[in-house]
Amino acid sequence: MDKLVIDGGRKLYGKLLAQSAKNSVLPLLAASILTDERVTIFDVPAISDVSCMAQILRELGAEVNFSGGDVVIDSAKATEHRISSALTRELRSSVFMLGSLLTRFRRAACAYPGGCEIGLRPIDLHLNALKRMGARIEEREGYILCSCDVLKGAEIALDFPSVGATENILLAAVKADGTTRIEGAAKEPEIVDLQQFLNAMGAKIEGAGTDTIAIEGVERLRGIEYRPMKDRIEAGTYLLACAVCGGEVEVEGVRPDCLGLLLHKLRENGCKIHTKNDKIRLASGGRLKCNRKIETMPFPGFPTDLQAQATALNASAEGCARIVENLFETRYKYVPELRKMGADIEVDGRNAFVRGVARLHGASVTCGDLRGGAALVIAALGAEGVSDVLDLSHLDRGYAGLSENLKSLGANIRRVRV
Ligand code: EPZ
Repeated sequence: MDKLVIDGGRKLYGKLLAQSAKNSVLPLLAASILTDERVTIFDVPAISDVSCMAQILRELGAEVNFSGGDVVIDSAKATEHRISSALTRELRSSVFMLGSLLTRFRRAACAYPGGCEIGLRPIDLHLNALKRMGARIEEREGYILCSCDVLKGAEIALDFPSVGATENILLAAVKADGTTRIEGAAKEPEIVDLQQFLNAMGAKIEGAGTDTIAIEGVERLRGIEYRPMKDRIEAGTYLLACAVCGGEVEVEGVRPDCLGLLLHKLRENGCKIHTKNDKIRLASGGRLKCNRKIETMPFPGFPTDLQAQATALNASAEGCARIVENLFETRYKYVPELRKMGADIEVDGRNAFVRGVARLHGASVTCGDLRGGAALVIAALGAEGVSDVLDLSHLDRGYAGLSENLKSLGANIRRVRV
């Protein structure tokens, strides 16, 4: 068990290249079993969610080998269609496997997916869509059992632009009999990356990035080599860290238009931001103004995955802020931990009312989920004194080399064995 020891107050200076996007690499790994030819994904991040998805693929009988930051998947010998409950409970993304497994084997079985405890996280949109495409679905003792004779193209209208449901439908539709149209699709950049990956394999998909996507089923998909998009949430996390600490940091690999409203909100805080192609440079004096309001929305709105980190910024900014979390029911579990550092935040359902204090102080705090943990790190970097950040397993799910990257920017941070 490790912890981070952070002595706050250092300004951050330097440059970082963003890692490949966790929320793109995971569906790409699920898509890799759609062909029995070899698939190579370059430069995958060294994070536990990727290791867990690799383990799921191995359980299905695929060969998965990591070499020099790349991963090679050969699923020619895969025959298994069931995923163990241990793995599916650990990883929300296991639910994407339903679409892939039905396409490959006409059968799929997995436990209800796990992942971060940030809300109810139902999968009704996934299951209803698969049923419309001809899947028979039985839910028995916490397991989801799916089967089909053939997957048929269908007209699917999503009540909510669910990222995971949109991705699952793409994975089920690529080789279906006929054409599938999704209305109300999620528009996140990771959906565009998945479309590019599948079309490189020989799929016929168009419209990703808009709310209408059309998928014409094809006979075969071939093996490919692919470099995923960079992680816009990781990039946004480092920009928010620099905003809180002060200094000047440039993050490379993420286009500004992939960050939704984040850059607009950071300018509202008083940060100076310059962008050029996929380079984003932020300069901050450290003492910021609160955002009047931050409301999380599906892309291109303010990303829910940056809500906790932005709340940590507002906790030590001047004035008051109202945060509204519209996507997940309980995505404020990190707030009591911020209060231990002196934050003045009241949570009322989907709202968090923040009164900025002059400065937070160091404390021993515990991560409860991936992005809440990132918020605690950001708060500790800007706080007066030393903080211990515990239960790093949550951070290790999504941030490769977090302490090394922050140290390279000048933070006084150490990862130590507890
Ligand atoms: C993806 O989760 C991301 N995870 C999440 O990132 C991200 O927060 C989320 O999209 C929203 O952008 C991955 O890509 C692996 P959703 P997902 O389906 O697919 C409702 C992180 O920190 N919903 O768009 O689970 C439900 O209310 C993680 O990297 C249904 O009602 O998100 C849910 O809360 C956390 N029925 C909301 O949509 C469904 O069948 C958003 O869910 C599905 C979703």
